Amino acid sequence: MISVNEHFLKLKAGYLFPEIGRRVAAFSKADPDVNIIRLGIGDVTEPLVPAIIEAMHKAVDEMASAETFRGYGPEQGYAFLREAIVEHDYRARQADISPDEIFISDGAKCDTGNLQEIFSVDNTVAVTDPVYPVYVDTNVMAGRTGQADQAGRYSNIVYMPCTAENNFVPELPKEPVDMIYLCYPNNPTGATATREQLKKWVDYAIANKAIILYDAAYEAFIQDQTIPRSIYEIEGAKKAAIEFRSFSKTAGFTGVRCAFTVVPKDLVAYKKDGSAVELNGIWNRRQSTKFNGVSYITQAAAAAVYTPEGQTQIRRVIDLYMGNAKMMRDALTALGLSVYGGLHAPYVWLKTPDGVGSWEFFDRLLNKAHVVGTPGVGFGAAGEGYFRLSAFNHPDKVADAMKRMESLDCL
Ligand code: MLT
Repeated sequence: MISVNEHFLKLKAGYLFPEIGRRVAAFSKADPDVNIIRLGIGDVTEPLVPAIIEAMHKAVDEMASAETFRGYGPEQGYAFLREAIVEHDYRARQADISPDEIFISDGAKCDTGNLQEIFSVDNTVAVTDPVYPVYVDTNVMAGRTGQADQAGRYSNIVYMPCTAENNFVPELPKEPVDMIYLCYPNNPTGATATREQLKKWVDYAIANKAIILYDAAYEAFIQDQTIPRSIYEIEGAKKAAIEFRSFSKTAGFTGVRCAFTVVPKDLVAYKKDGSAVELNGIWNRRQSTKFNGVSYITQAAAAAVYTPEGQTQIRRVIDLYMGNAKMMRDALTALGLSVYGGLHAPYVWLKTPDGVGSWEFFDRLLNKAHVVGTPGVGFGAAGEGYFRLSAFNHPDKVADAMKRMESLDCL
């Protein structure tokens, strides 16, 4: 008799974004003429910039000729892309990362979900609350947790509340933890972490032989040069952290799929007998076995992000989204709401008015203003009473959404 992996049965309801999609589809079906503005899932709306399109076209042409055609590429990614990443994302910021510490992949969601595989199921996981659901759900699937309680919190996970009081950066845990997921600029709160705050975490991880899984997918949205874009800008971090990066939001690749993960050679985990094992080799082994790399066309397109034209062009698009974030912050603040994030991240995090529940606010906004956002509670129990709006849309649509929220009686 085939048995099922019962850990999957512990998962609460559906994954957040399909659940939102289901509710919006039901609403549209009932009222097909309604013009809905989507500020829910953080999916980019602007087209790929010309430098990227040009590189992609050129790569397609190369695939059309026997002399330049390429079959399987290296599972870790092509050297031209790994070198460009090292040069622009790390050396330029005094972070000492080498190309063989970079692993190109098809997404940070996949990497943050897959990476836990290389750690024992006995490890204790710590996550912020609210949190990007992938970190939690993939650890549930792997069997690192018990059942969820009424509020959706799983046993054996250490939840670190992130509230306005701690500026959405958690305190160090009181109990021992092994795998610590941090995401800055943060999804969903839009908060950033300072150098000093990250240093505390790096020191903690080194002292406790723990590992930080650092999701920096939104680093390109940081406007203030003093805020670290990479955990490796922090002294000692190569011994303490794995970093995830993505071209999705930085360069409009949500539909193209390209990201990378940095596993430093200095980073180790321990066997039961206490001896240390290098994780770079283990992740390399995992990727070589389960993954055949990202397509040449996609990697050629990603490399174009690092050309001078590519940089200028993607910066313009990022500025457009950050203009949306400012528009939302200004409008919502003028409405008297408590608004967070949106300064160095494409997400605005707001407190719902009068303590209304997150899903109730979602329904109100959808029904009355025809605007879709993301209920804060979908990111964890501490997100109840909060709501996330994404800056990824056309400025005129964002302006329209704000007008609807101002003029309609939905607040
Ligand atoms: C989000 O809206 O939180 C993101 O789009 C999710 C993701 O990047 O997978």
